[in-house]
Amino acid sequence: MNLILMGLPGAGKGTQAEKIVVKYPIAHISTGDMFRAAMANGTELGKQAKSYMDQGQLVPDEVTEGLVKERLQEPDTESGYMLDGFPRTIAQAEALTDITAELNKPLDAVINIDVDPKILADRLSARYICKTCGATYNKLYHNPKVEGTCDRCGGHEFFQRDDDKPETVQNRLQVNIEMNTPLLDFYADRKLLYTVNGDQDIDAVFAEIEKILAAMA
Ligand code: AP5
Ligand code: MG
Repeated sequence: MNLILMGLPGAGKGTQAEKIVVKYPIAHISTGDMFRAAMANGTELGKQAKSYMDQGQLVPDEVTEGLVKERLQEPDTESGYMLDGFPRTIAQAEALTDITAELNKPLDAVINIDVDPKILADRLSARYICKTCGATYNKLYHNPKVEGTCDRCGGHEFFQRDDDKPETVQNRLQVNIEMNTPLLDFYADRKLLYTVNGDQDIDAVFAEIEKILAAMA
């Protein structure tokens, strides 16, 4: 099963991906997570990405496309893949069409998590992440069952993403809102697009996604 998870910043792509991989053994490929890992490791890619990410801008297409092309050749994608945060531009979508054709790993579906942009800034400001395993939480909507202890790994340390600071959030939202509609049209034209309502609680969103995936499996 080869998927794209689409949605504006804070729509819940990472949150739903965490749930999908528990049920389906497919590789979760988040370009944002890959850039953050590269930044943490101080690599050349990380240095390139940092200046864009800190301002809420997109990293240039050619950098991102090369990264995804390499990642889609790794063995764990043989059982399927789920792209999260890629593509974000029409140029990236076209590049992905070429990459998946060349690697013979065609897309099965694009799942768009649709959320009213007005609520996203609050969601992003309230996000916090487990330092040990990367599980995502939210001060307003989704706290661990035991306060201060990660549900997934038992870790006790959490952090806020640099680009969730208020001065970056607005720009990130603006940049992504502009790109979103043409991308949705691109996949609707190709009959690959499914939209779920992301304005409901996390388990209800997952139930909608599961229905789509069950019909495909
Ligand atoms: P990336 O890391 O992909 O960030 P993003 O698209 O801005 O999306 P987020 O990760 O912020 O949101 P999400 O949808 O995963 O939401 P989450 O599940 O965490 O990209 C970061 C940057 O990298 C970009 O700005 C760009 O610079 C660069 N980049 C990445 N890909 C690129 C590309 N292809 N091209 C160029 N540049 C690229 O949920 C958010 C919060 O809400 C959490 O706290 C969560 O607990 C909560 N939540 C989730 N679902 C719900 C719900 N249903 N109800 C209530 N709360 C919820
Ligand atoms: Mg994410």
